[in-house]
Amino acid sequence: MTVPGSVAVVGGGTMGAGIVHVFLAAGSSVVLAEADAERAAIGVGNVEASLTKAQERGKLNAPAAELLSRLSTVEDLAALPADTALVIEAVPEKIELKRSIFEAVARRCPEAVLASNTSSLSIAEIARGLPGERLIGMHFFNPVPVQALVELVVHSGLPGEVVATVRGWAEALGKTVIEVRDSPGFATSRLGVAVGLEAIRMLEEGVASADDIDTGMRLGYAWPMGPLRLTDLVGLDVRLSIADHLAKQLGPRFEAPQLLRDKVARGELGRKTGQGFFSW
Ligand code: CAA
Repeated sequence: MTVPGSVAVVGGGTMGAGIVHVFLAAGSSVVLAEADAERAAIGVGNVEASLTKAQERGKLNAPAAELLSRLSTVEDLAALPADTALVIEAVPEKIELKRSIFEAVARRCPEAVLASNTSSLSIAEIARGLPGERLIGMHFFNPVPVQALVELVVHSGLPGEVVATVRGWAEALGKTVIEVRDSPGFATSRLGVAVGLEAIRMLEEGVASADDIDTGMRLGYAWPMGPLRLTDLVGLDVRLSIADHLAKQLGPRFEAPQLLRDKVARGELGRKTGQGFFSW
């Protein structure tokens, strides 16, 4: 299978831009939807930066400028091409925001598969009252061009043919697919957040320094980076909102440590603000 010819991505932040990058590199034409012209320009800049980095590393099979010629932007979902085959949203983890996006997209693109890049929200809940038979979780990992996994999140109302189609598209991107039942935190966020929160609690309790906790997992368990640096990379605010959601769904073992709350309140959100558990 090949990737679809026409793809739309809603949201041009870190994840959205990475998703745009991989579809452009695989041959799709991509429309990036953003709320206004300023954000659209930032999103395109993010895609450019990612493609340029890949080009410098010799990872692109065509010049970045050529791939970018297949990228366009819209500031209104009603302006998406009606024949778009796949629409992926990568906006903040707010269920009402995601639902309103899919409502507009479902009306505009009657044939499109609707995919959410949510890392923890219930796909069935996002799909409630919408055409759920074409709405799936398609969870990418940061940095999208580098991470080999796509986690497909499958709710009970989704036909097998749709799952098979989306699996084929993800594999055409060169990704390996795991299929996970729609449940809180799916497979990856549930485990990733559990380890991340425990690392923060250990730092809070003075078990070891941030550097030593991370080095322990990097060299002892061959993680590419330790759980605290990874939390900085993902964003402390993102981690906190997933933890709060999982605590509600799965109980107190996902309760966020006070240290995480304090850092988020101080605006120490990790790499993107220059300070998290480490200085960047
Ligand atoms: N295209 C674009 N950018 C590329 C690239 C490519 N083909 N190859 C590398 N890069 C980027 C890297 O992302 C990195 O970006 P920054 O400059 O912004 O840091 C930079 O080029 C350097 O890459 P290197 O491979 O030289 O650096 P490295 O060896 O330190 O690897 C890393 C960086 C890939 C991030 C690696 O440390 C790693 O794999 N870390 C773990 C990442 C991880 O666990 N991600 C999952 C996060 S959880 C998630 O995403 C899900 C969720 O729901 C929150």
